[in-house]
Amino acid sequence: MPLDQLNSPIIYFDNAATSWPKPAGMMAAMINYNEQIGGSPGRSGHHRSLDAGRIILEAREALAELFGCDDSLRIAFTKNATEALNIALLGILSPGDHVITSGMEHNSVMRPLRYLEAQGVQVSVVSCSDDGRLDTEDVRAAIWPHTRLLVVTHASNVTGTIQPIADLGKIAGHHGILFCVDAAQTAGALPIHVGEMAIDLLAFSGHKSLLGPQGTGGLYVREGLEKQLRPLMMGGTGSRSEFEGQPDFMPDKYESGTPNTIGLAGLGAGVRFVLAEGVEAIRSKEEGLTARFLTGLAALPGVTVHGPPNAANRTAVVSFNIAGVSPSEAALELDEHYGILCRPGLQCAPAAHRTIGTFSRGTIRFGFGYFNKDEEIDLSLEAIRSLAGGDAPH
Ligand code: ALA
Repeated sequence: MPLDQLNSPIIYFDNAATSWPKPAGMMAAMINYNEQIGGSPGRSGHHRSLDAGRIILEAREALAELFGCDDSLRIAFTKNATEALNIALLGILSPGDHVITSGMEHNSVMRPLRYLEAQGVQVSVVSCSDDGRLDTEDVRAAIWPHTRLLVVTHASNVTGTIQPIADLGKIAGHHGILFCVDAAQTAGALPIHVGEMAIDLLAFSGHKSLLGPQGTGGLYVREGLEKQLRPLMMGGTGSRSEFEGQPDFMPDKYESGTPNTIGLAGLGAGVRFVLAEGVEAIRSKEEGLTARFLTGLAALPGVTVHGPPNAANRTAVVSFNIAGVSPSEAALELDEHYGILCRPGLQCAPAAHRTIGTFSRGTIRFGFGYFNKDEEIDLSLEAIRSLAGGDAPH
């Protein structure tokens, strides 16, 4: 089907970077906040301020429901998953501690860890298989008496490889190690239950599969852990204003300064959309799109697919290469001639590319979302066939 029959000037396959489009309710919630509320939450006490506070509480409660968390105050809002991971890593680790991570991490984990390493934290990076899978026995073998934290991505932003989070949580719990999960690629896309997965710290992005706006994210902190977790930033919280010391309770300890209320209004609407559709239904749709694409790619000569062969073992993210065409050239061609938007290169995850053998060339990465259609997959396969030197698209 030609692009114009899809009723869209583009095919958006960059959902792993940020999701698009968003549900209509997201923008409606942001406009409602701006036009009808506009106050600063938790500050002034007038009714517009209280309404703003309610918007944020509703977003927190929707997230708590999504993550199987009984108390929504365990979730602190941040501007993105990166800030949440920085709070988790810089807030817990001290010189002399040992931290374990995987060979599939994004720089939002690796850069704070390399910084901490220079301060005297010992960092072990456990290798993964060439499709990105972390072996739980390798993690077990890397544990030392002074290991303080295990930090692992739930799913790779390069290959979509899903890690065995529940098993890793059991191992961490068994050894008394804190367990931090980077859910930037999975919150809203895969089921997450912080209790059942024994997660102590869950960092998430609001603008990917949670279908909120950019500038939103957050950190779930297991009950009691806030006593050990240092804040990244301190300042006004609207609470305990009589004290110059930072509040030591959730979520205020990590939420200094006026929040992104308009963004959180949108995030709340995005999460409520996810809850209404159901994560299982979203996963099933995205897995179907991914399986269709993987099957189609397998039939194209000159195309190499990275990561797990089956859609069941990955999120809706597929990295691939076309023989004789650089990822950036391919992405430019896809954009300019076919209206297909994707992300080429290293995707801020050099460690993952070293693991799968694509450093420093990188890959062409397609990230599908809930609103993509089978027809878009089919059209993109024709475009890739053409780029790979096969038959021209019809
Ligand atoms: N980490 C995001 C990506 O993979 C931005 O594109």
